[in-house]
Amino acid sequence: MNTAMTDAPILPILFHPAPILRAKARPVAEADGARVTELAARMLSTMYKAPGIGLAAPQVGEGLRLVVLDVAKEETPAPMVLVNPEIVAASTERAIREEGCLSLPGQYADVERPARVKVRYRALDGSRQEVEADDLLATCLQHEIDHLDGVMFTDHLSPLKRNMLIKKFLKEQKLKSREAM
Ligand code: NI
Repeated sequence: MNTAMTDAPILPILFHPAPILRAKARPVAEADGARVTELAARMLSTMYKAPGIGLAAPQVGEGLRLVVLDVAKEETPAPMVLVNPEIVAASTERAIREEGCLSLPGQYADVERPARVKVRYRALDGSRQEVEADDLLATCLQHEIDHLDGVMFTDHLSPLKRNMLIKKFLKEQKLKSREAM
C-alpha cells in the first residue's frame, strides 16, 4: 500500500445514535470502483488521526461493506483494507477483550467473542483474500464487520451494562457541547 494513502483528507466520524450506524451496509460493487479506493484512503487517514485501530464505512456515513484497520504494534503502519469482508469460520473457544469504538468515544467495556476467526474479503484491486486471525486482529475484525450489519460492540453487553455505558456517553457529549458554547 502506498503510504501517501494515509495523507488523504479526513472525514467526520459519526457518533451514536446516528441512524446509519444501525443500518445494514450494501456490498461494494465493481461499479463503485475508484470511489471505494478514495474512500478507503480517507478512512485510513481518519482512523490514524483519531487515533483508532479500525473503522467501518458506515462510521463515516457511507453504507458500504468496507473496513480499514491497522493493529500493528510497531511504529511502521500496516494498513489493511477489506472490501466485502465475511466471517467464514469462528472458533468455539471464546476470548474476552476490552473494546472501544470511534463512534462511542471514551467508552470501553469487556466483550466476549470467538477467539479466532477466518475472514474472506476482496482487496482494493479486486483479488480474493483470506485471513486467519487470533488475538487483537480477531477482535478488531469482528467488531468492524459487526458495523457493516448495524451492530455496535455495546450490543454484546448485558442490557444493564449497555444502558449504563450509553447513558454515560450521552451525558458526556451533552457536557462537551455545553462547554463548546
Ligand atoms: Ni466501532
